[in-house]
Amino acid sequence: MGTSTRTLNIGIIGFGPFAQFLAKTMTKQGHFIRATSRSDHSGHPAVHFYRNMEEFIGLEHDVILICTSIVSISDVVKSIPFHCLKKPVLFADVLSVKEHPRQLLLQEVPEDSDLVCTHPMFGPESGKDGWKNLPFMYERVRVRNETLCSSFLAIFEHEGCKMLEMSCEEHDRLASQSQFLTHTIGRILSEMEVTHTPIDTKGFEKLVQVKESTTRDSFDLYSGLFIHNRFAKQQLKNLESALQRVKVTLETTMDKQDGHKCEN
Ligand SMILES: NC(=O)c1ccc[n+]([C@@H]2O[C@H](COP(=O)([O-])OP(=O)(O)OC[C@H]3O[C@@H](n4cnc5c(N)ncnc54)[C@H](OP(=O)(O)O)[C@@H]3O)[C@@H](O)[C@H]2O)c1
Repeated sequence: MGTSTRTLNIGIIGFGPFAQFLAKTMTKQGHFIRATSRSDHSGHPAVHFYRNMEEFIGLEHDVILICTSIVSISDVVKSIPFHCLKKPVLFADVLSVKEHPRQLLLQEVPEDSDLVCTHPMFGPESGKDGWKNLPFMYERVRVRNETLCSSFLAIFEHEGCKMLEMSCEEHDRLASQSQFLTHTIGRILSEMEVTHTPIDTKGFEKLVQVKESTTRDSFDLYSGLFIHNRFAKQQLKNLESALQRVKVTLETTMDKQDGHKCEN
């Protein structure tokens, strides 16, 4: 992929923690960022904030970047006044599930606008010291303006991300085993109120880290990983049955030991 550099007018829909994190780097690279959101973020130093969606959509954008929660994207996209667009743009999203926004955006975004679905596989915590070597997944779903799409992807390329082009389906299959499982383990550890002890092993320290980093994300994000990734349900079943098998192995071993003791 070529690295074309161009200053972009980027309009962000959904200005929560992740969008604010992305906007910082985009602004640093010289891009012009505007945003709109459900809540009022007008005091934010990195962006020009618009409360009115119609006014926002009617501005000169090159890219409209959708950063809302997974569980709200359907309502948000369906409420976009597409008729206010000045010209065809590149629509992009950063949701942590991919088949769901792909299908929705293909259905709702006007035919003359392009579409790229992406997932930066990092967040405000893991990416706080830079994005070098952090994976960035994307699928060019409907791209005719190659220069514009390359300029948008170059934002991540220039920060040193590991660029991974793959289908949204493949992403969701892999992410159900990696991201959803990590978040589920983190939430289980949190339910168990797992916390540091004076005799922590390195392995245990990592477990506490998993608990802390996953529970820092919103519950909307976590539940979205389950509700809108069709592969996640099977992973949850796999986790339950694996726990059951481990339990049975332990109990059988204990029974055998007790049996030996009785024989002696
Ligand atoms: N956090 C990460 O590390 C990370 C990494 C990669 C991708 N992502 C993806 O980035 C997106 C944003 O993530 P996040 O961490 O910022 O938190 P989030 O809780 O997933 O989403 C928060 C955003 O969704 C908006 N929102 C929530 N409910 C809404 C509703 N009913 N109507 C309209 N807007 C609504 C919020 O708007 P207001 O702020 O206006 O309330 C805010 O902009 C998600 O799709 C997530 O999967 C996150």
